[in-house]
Amino acid sequence: MPIVWVTGGAGFIGSHLVRHLVHTQPNWHIVTIDALTYAGNLANLADLKDAPNHTFLRVNIADGPAVEKAWEAYPPDRILHLAAESHVDRSILSPLDFVHTNVLGTVTLLEMARKHWKGRTDVLFYQVSTDEVYGSLAPEDFFREGSSYDPRSPYSASKAAADHFVRAYGHTYGIPYLISNCGNNYGPYQFPEKLIPLTITHLMERKPIPVYGTGQNVRDWIYVEDHVRAIALLAEKGQRGHTYLIGARCPRPNLEIVTLLCDLYDELTGARDSRQLITFVKDRPGHDFRYAIEPSPELHALGWQPQVSLHEGLRKTLHWYLQNQAWVNAVRSGEYQSYYALQYGERLR
Ligand code: NAD
Ligand code: TYD
Repeated sequence: MPIVWVTGGAGFIGSHLVRHLVHTQPNWHIVTIDALTYAGNLANLADLKDAPNHTFLRVNIADGPAVEKAWEAYPPDRILHLAAESHVDRSILSPLDFVHTNVLGTVTLLEMARKHWKGRTDVLFYQVSTDEVYGSLAPEDFFREGSSYDPRSPYSASKAAADHFVRAYGHTYGIPYLISNCGNNYGPYQFPEKLIPLTITHLMERKPIPVYGTGQNVRDWIYVEDHVRAIALLAEKGQRGHTYLIGARCPRPNLEIVTLLCDLYDELTGARDSRQLITFVKDRPGHDFRYAIEPSPELHALGWQPQVSLHEGLRKTLHWYLQNQAWVNAVRSGEYQSYYALQYGERLR
């Protein structure tokens, strides 16, 4: 039975991926490797408690001896690497945390692969990355396979560094690898610091919805389950050494997303005038203007297509948050309050 590690499997995308693999690959043993930072939460995997082909290990990927111990217990044949510090605003407040996990943590995993996978060609190091490594686009332009790296936030610089290390280990030591770069994900279980879940929780609490700058910055959105199906497909059928761009052709200005959420919220709950909560606040320093992805043709050739439209995805997401207020309260109970005060205290004063 192949052992497949999903690092960051207790986070937002990771938990959807673990659930998908546990259900669709009964002959794989899925091992979630996660440090359970503020963003990781075992409640995200609660429904897999009794799954015979899933194991959870609390491990910090930057802690070499801890990773070695996990490797001895469950030697992986494939590593699907998602563990990361993932929020741009936090990277602006404390960049070193991002270097530690995203760069040192990734290289620690690669070192372990170099040591244990010597000469094996049946293994895979799959680096899950972001379109943000390509920098900011002019209007009408698109990221394409082969676009040059131009990271401009501490988050994207740390992910770019990790991508480069993965390629360097592939080139130098022959570790079979694959990288995919995806746009902005949304859906259930996303920590309510990112734009869409932050907007939804503020709608539910009738609090001002902070929109940075003019709200004209563009992000390319994808429903998390569509991303997860692409990762699962590439992990099986993707070409080793290749980089894939994953996207659902859905670039939208932030203000359009927030307005749409306000209108859907009013429609679903009978609330009124939610748009009045929209509040323009001081911009993010170095705010990238536009991301838009031309998805890899090879991905479509393998049979992948996004299945969830923006409207349907936002509806599903709103529904989930409305029904899971206890989850929201639990994940916001700890360190979130001090982060929120630091990030929005001045802006929403
Ligand atoms: P997330 O912040 O929701 O989850 C990250 C997970 O990693 C958490 O469970 C956390 O506990 C774990 N983690 C953090 N540091 C760790 C460490 N040192 N050791 C072990 N575990 C650690 O992130 P997400 O949004 O689910 O993103 C997952 C991956 O996908 C990241 O690599 C991110 O860069 C990438 N990605 C995210 C998006 C997006 O829109 N969210 C888009 C493209 C790519
Ligand atoms: P975010 O969800 O943080 O993802 P990323 O920065 O990785 O793209 O932000 C998405 C967009 O929304 C980005 O342009 C910044 C903007 N934004 C706001 O306008 N207000 C907010 O409170 C947040 C968190 C983001």
